[in-house]
Amino acid sequence: MPFPPSFIDEVVARNPIEDVVGQYVNLKRSGANLFGLCPFHGEKTPSFSVAPDKGIYYCFGCHKGGGVINFQMEIEGLSYGDAVRALAKRAGLEVPEDPQFQSRYKQQERLWALSKEAARYFHSKLYAQEGTEGLSYAQKRGMPKSTLTKFGIGFAPNSWNGLVDAMKAKGYTDQELKDAGLVSEKNGRIYDRFRNRLMFPIIDVRGNVIGFGGRVMDNSTPKYLNSPETIIFNKRKNLFALNLAKKSKLGYLILVEGYMDAVALHQYGFDCAVASLGTSLTQEHAVLLSRYTEQVVLIYDGDEAGQNATRRAIPMLEAAGIQVKVLRMHDAKDPDEYLKKFGADKFKILLEEASNRVEYQLGAIARKYHLNDDEERIQFLREAADLVASLPSPVQREIYGGRAAETAKVTPEAMKLEVDRARKRREKREKKQEEQKMLSPAQNLQPKSRTIRYEDIRSAMAEEVILANVFKQPSLLDQVGSLTAAQFSCPLLGRIFRQQQDRYKQGLEVSASVLDGLESDEMAHLAGILQRNQGPVNEQAFADCVRTVLESDRARNTVTEQDLLALRDKMKEKKGMKL
Ligand code: CTP
Ligand code: MN
Repeated sequence: MPFPPSFIDEVVARNPIEDVVGQYVNLKRSGANLFGLCPFHGEKTPSFSVAPDKGIYYCFGCHKGGGVINFQMEIEGLSYGDAVRALAKRAGLEVPEDPQFQSRYKQQERLWALSKEAARYFHSKLYAQEGTEGLSYAQKRGMPKSTLTKFGIGFAPNSWNGLVDAMKAKGYTDQELKDAGLVSEKNGRIYDRFRNRLMFPIIDVRGNVIGFGGRVMDNSTPKYLNSPETIIFNKRKNLFALNLAKKSKLGYLILVEGYMDAVALHQYGFDCAVASLGTSLTQEHAVLLSRYTEQVVLIYDGDEAGQNATRRAIPMLEAAGIQVKVLRMHDAKDPDEYLKKFGADKFKILLEEASNRVEYQLGAIARKYHLNDDEERIQFLREAADLVASLPSPVQREIYGGRAAETAKVTPEAMKLEVDRARKRREKREKKQEEQKMLSPAQNLQPKSRTIRYEDIRSAMAEEVILANVFKQPSLLDQVGSLTAAQFSCPLLGRIFRQQQDRYKQGLEVSASVLDGLESDEMAHLAGILQRNQGPVNEQAFADCVRTVLESDRARNTVTEQDLLALRDKMKEKKGMKL
């Protein structure tokens, strides 16, 4: 169900790309462009660009790019239609909808509303007759009313249909209850999924209730029952309490394992705590966190599982440009227990002592070896040297090299030799990788998207320059002479050329952000071309490129003498006869 082009133009015009992207990425201006850390891949230095004048974004690192609609699709995982709807809503525009069309976006809105109603229901039960047990459990766990209110914590009564009935009375259907993951089904009948549990609503950064975690109140299992993945609940992309922690003034975020830990931390004044949702940390989580902070303190449980999780989380967070500190719990199994045993002041000291990740990792390596054994000490040194060699600054290398030397009881000089050796190994490895990249320059010019291939590199390069200039100065379309889209070697580039030519003839705006009918990888490819070809219009280069494309087209369509000879040989072979 396509939208009218004028409507799309309006949506794009009313949603400046820098504003829309700015909701997700911290952008800094540099010339005509804005730069920030790419929200689509982990990185430490910004290679994600936004060009407000062109209405596009492009990441020089992961090669994602496009207009404002593509951005909305990509960042929220929406279809084209739903991205347009979301942007229209943002700009307060009425969407010309086909009433038959039940969009995913509308469905999501229903499920958000339903989940919010469910959260209200659970919360109210905490103070109802059937909820006394829940309330006293919450109190036993040290949660005052203010905490219960702040997190919207609730209670699911021990009933098979309490929630189902209440939600149906509000007009929600069986199907919607199923879609929201609030019910289970047996023999075609649905019943409450969460029963006799303390309920933690999971709320996304925009304030939508998207799922629940429900804790039993005794030692039965499973200890927690979570909502299943639904179209509104994605565990890989959301974190518990981030909706609150993102407003914290503390300047860092604390990442813990448990709902209870996050709740307790907030309650004791550490309002920057978030928890993952019963799954290990993903790269998406790390990127999400990097939108709100540059520093994360990791506090995982002290057991082996927790330590393994810490080891896996560090590189992911660093890849997203986050500085990592690690806090090791002593005398308590998790932050919740610690706070209740020792209080906030003691915890603050722990926080201040939290080691940065290098200290933590050195410690972790040291714990692996018996340092009294000479052989193991050598192994420790080698592994520690690898770690130290990976540090970018000489000061860091000196400090941590010195510390490793101390731990292994060798001289700093000996350690430095070991680190230098490790650095040489690294450099060699990196150089080799670099060389391998350089080996195939033609390959480098090929589009990064696997679905687009340049058959004629020379012509395609010229086509790129032509398009880039046309977007900068549409009147150049009057100077293309006999060049037509059909002569482009790359069909995609030809198609874009033709579309812009048509728009230009009709007096419409020529802009990358309003292009119609392009797949997202095609749009990303175009954004890449535009961002790589910046600078002022060069009419001479433009004219040269037009000529190159015309020549290449002619060459491709001319049968050369060589072709004829080859053809003759082929026929000879086939028929075994003389020509
Ligand atoms: N978890 C889960 N399912 C389970 C057990 C745990 O999803 N059966 C997830 C929950 O998100 C939980 C986290 O893993 O918050 C950490 O588990 P745990 O440390 O056992 O729970 P706590 O949050 O510390 O809860 P409590 O203090 O009440 O035991
Ligand atoms: Mn706990």
